[in-house]
Amino acid sequence: MDRLLVLHGPNLNLLGSREPEVYGRQALAEIDARLRARTESAGRAFESVQSNAEHVLVERVQAAAGDGTCFILLNPAAFTHTSVALRDALAAVAIPFIEVHLSNPHAREPFRRQSYFSDLAVGIVSGFGANSYSLALDAALARLARLAPAS
Ligand code: DQA
Repeated sequence: MDRLLVLHGPNLNLLGSREPEVYGRQALAEIDARLRARTESAGRAFESVQSNAEHVLVERVQAAAGDGTCFILLNPAAFTHTSVALRDALAAVAIPFIEVHLSNPHAREPFRRQSYFSDLAVGIVSGFGANSYSLALDAALARLARLAPAS
């Protein structure tokens, strides 16, 4: 039970060039590299998956139940506001997760205020650009250190 899984939803593969005034200039690979280094130095395995396809994310969450994943950082991106299927997968596996957003969805269009994940999440980090992921990772590692020390 030692893997930290990061899931990135649709269009996050475009980070760096996608609406940089909203999402910043860091590419996803740079964000993931920083998260990987920090996670591995805390003695945990790291995996990151980005997909534009809902079923790929649902299937990765389902597989997480049996592959040693102990925590998930999830930026569902647009699926935040639409995906009952991904929500149900997270509820089914009952692996604790933090919901992450680069932007602050509450300061944007009204349709972004609805999340299918927030009430299931351990916590939510949003509005800090790429730092939202780092802050969420720190919170996840602190929680794991308390509840499930690395072997
Ligand atoms: C996002 C916010 C969502 O509303 C949007 O659809 C995204 C990215 C964020 O990280 O700020 O794609 O999840």
